[in-house]
Amino acid sequence: MAGERMKAIVDWTLDRFAVKQIEKGLLDRRVAKGTWYHGDGAALFLLFKILLITGAFLALSYTPSLDGAYSSVRYITEDQTLGWFVRGLHYWSAGLMVLVLVFHLLRQILLGGYKSPREGTWLIGVLLFFAVIATSLLGYVLRWDERAIYGLRVALNLMYRVPLIGESLVLIVQGGPHIGEQTLPRIYAMHVIFVPLLLLALIGYHMYLVVMHGITGPTERSQPVSDADEQRRLYKADAMSEERGETFFPSTAAKSGAFAGVVFLVVVVLTLVLGPGYLYPEANLVKSSFPMEEWWWSWYSALAGLLPPWLATTFYVGFPIVLFLILAALPFLDRSPRRGLRNRPVAVVVVSVCVIVILSLGSLRARSPWMAFPHSEPPPVPDGVQLSPYAEQGRQLFAQFGCNSCHAIDGHGAPFGPDLAASGRVLSHAQFRKIILDPPEEIAMPPYEGRLTDEELNQIIDFLMHVQITRHR
Ligand code: HEC
Repeated sequence: MAGERMKAIVDWTLDRFAVKQIEKGLLDRRVAKGTWYHGDGAALFLLFKILLITGAFLALSYTPSLDGAYSSVRYITEDQTLGWFVRGLHYWSAGLMVLVLVFHLLRQILLGGYKSPREGTWLIGVLLFFAVIATSLLGYVLRWDERAIYGLRVALNLMYRVPLIGESLVLIVQGGPHIGEQTLPRIYAMHVIFVPLLLLALIGYHMYLVVMHGITGPTERSQPVSDADEQRRLYKADAMSEERGETFFPSTAAKSGAFAGVVFLVVVVLTLVLGPGYLYPEANLVKSSFPMEEWWWSWYSALAGLLPPWLATTFYVGFPIVLFLILAALPFLDRSPRRGLRNRPVAVVVVSVCVIVILSLGSLRARSPWMAFPHSEPPPVPDGVQLSPYAEQGRQLFAQFGCNSCHAIDGHGAPFGPDLAASGRVLSHAQFRKIILDPPEEIAMPPYEGRLTDEELNQIIDFLMHVQITRHR
């Protein structure tokens, strides 16, 4: 008797909440067989959910104001129960999301995943890519430490150069003519409301399209497909076939879940081992700040650092726009019927070259150059030069402040700025001072105003004068 009642209640619930339809339409669906890498989408979806949940908890304690932001992040990290863990999960999920997203994008290029009838899925994906990058950038400004404000200044500077709308963009983000009280609330609102809502809508639609058009199945990957109709026929045959198809639940779901599970584990391990993103000293509106960026951004800085200064800014602004246009146009430019890794040698070469270039640039940046990370080795004293103890201090500081990540001394050090022992130009104390504190706009050297004490500056200059005077005697 009780059993029957129970069954009636369960049936009622399944019916009224239309659970059977989910089962029939979504779970029991036959799909083309996926491989391990098809789980990257599920991993991205999981990361997004972690970000929403941890973000909601962070929002309970975060204060988006000039005075409160940094101390609230400190409070979350140092005092709040498990605050460091929540911030760590948020931080590492965001980083991995960028990484998995790039993987997801590159693999579509390798397989030809954007080909008909999946152009819509691809175009929404491209929008998603840029929206995720935008939120990540906004997110790290919220920390309001030295790195955050440096990133914000660079971003605003670039925005300003966008044709036609640049100035308005800057005003909208800043909420006024300068970075001020209005700025953080705006960035906060964009990071937690505007962009996530956009992401939610785009992700929903993207997934709907994946359900409608499926993944690039086994047959498509091995034989040329001339048009959307042919693709649909082949896909259906794959899905129904015993060895080339499977039921979404549990077969596909298990594989996707495995990928997502591994990514989740990586996030947890990174959080436990490395903790949340490092907090630099609090942002300061007056002094200039230390140039730095998030790790997944470093290849881009390296590239801009390698380009001649007159090209660097144009490149910085132009690159995302050009990248967007190329990605959006890809399905319409690449009309070849071939899909699958093995049939797309050009895509394999292009993607490999991009990956190698990005990794090499990132590693160059990590080993310090362009933006002057501290060096452990000071430059050797040139032959025939006697340093006073005061100048010897300067030699040490020359390394500590990363000058030798750009300047060589008598051939020892990096060649990105002039060799300060052999430049052929003799500078006065005042000229040195001026250049180091406030280098002319057009040269690729960071200003040291506010980062060196007078004493340190004088020691460095003393060192440089010893070196140059001896060379030019
Ligand atoms: C990111 C790279 C970079 C860093 C770091 C850097 N500089 Fe420079 N520096 C340059 C470049 C580039 C120039 C100008 C080259 C030119 O004139 O075209 C320059 C010019 C100079 C000059 C003028 C040289 C001349 O003969 O005109 C001096 C002096 C100088 N830097 C000192 C320093 C000192 C001291 C430090 C550390 C506190 C430092 N620089 C850190 C890149 C750098």
